[in-house]
Amino acid sequence: MTRFDTISALRQHLHSLPSSRSIGLVPTMGALHEGHMTLIQSAKAAGDLVVASIFVNPVQFNNPDDLARYPRTLDDDCRLLEAAGCDVVFAPSVTEMYPEPPTMRLNFGELETVMEGAFRPGHFNGVGIVVAKLFNIVQPHRAYFGQKDLQQVAVIRQLIRDLSFPVELVRSPTVRETDGLAMSSRNRNLTAEERVLAPALYEALTLAHDLLSEGQSTAQAKAAVTGFFSNNPNFRLEYVEIANADTLQPAGEVLAPGQTAICLAVHLGTVRLIDNVVF
Ligand code: PAF
Repeated sequence: MTRFDTISALRQHLHSLPSSRSIGLVPTMGALHEGHMTLIQSAKAAGDLVVASIFVNPVQFNNPDDLARYPRTLDDDCRLLEAAGCDVVFAPSVTEMYPEPPTMRLNFGELETVMEGAFRPGHFNGVGIVVAKLFNIVQPHRAYFGQKDLQQVAVIRQLIRDLSFPVELVRSPTVRETDGLAMSSRNRNLTAEERVLAPALYEALTLAHDLLSEGQSTAQAKAAVTGFFSNNPNFRLEYVEIANADTLQPAGEVLAPGQTAICLAVHLGTVRLIDNVVF
């Protein structure tokens, strides 16, 4: 595995490869876990030369404490990537990516008005800017993202469509711990006690999923999740939404199989966690 810190060195390397070689990009912010490794494996299985980026993107954080607390484990990450068969890792500094703070603004329309868009103003602008930069730098044929960030997947889909990037978006299923907790870099910031409590997110999603399966309404399923967390003082529910899995707009009723997403965000201590299941 070769590691690059600068855009020019990475570009030079990628341009020296045979043009017949397909490139798969796995964008990450590091603190890697099995979920990321699944993305690397998907890229390898597709026959791609795998480029993983590790960059904690300041532009997508709307809370400076959250940015400061974000785990940074570059050496461990590189070891994991190498063992997984990643070909290239790109780990630039903030000044390499942003010699000047970016002034452009991306607007993802309705996607910005709900859930992560509504509760983290400016977040998707930052995600869009960094992913567009990575697409320009790496020029991948495919880009791999996890379903845990379902709304992010929709944002990237729109970015690719609106800016005509010749990139195929691959969405990988959420990888869970054995107790149901969705794997996330932020899980590292949970205390031992919070880690024991954290599978409650998946329990709540499963509860809503089961209620919808029994024929209850989306309003009833959402009310059940709200009740679930109001009985648990360790959690602060930020939102629960039942939405169209592609547009992320609220769904008043259950849609076609695979089209309804149950999404939530909760605060557990100082850690904000999100998760979803598609019904
Ligand atoms: O999902 C993430 O880790 C980040 O939002 C991404 C896509 C790497 C952009 O910084």
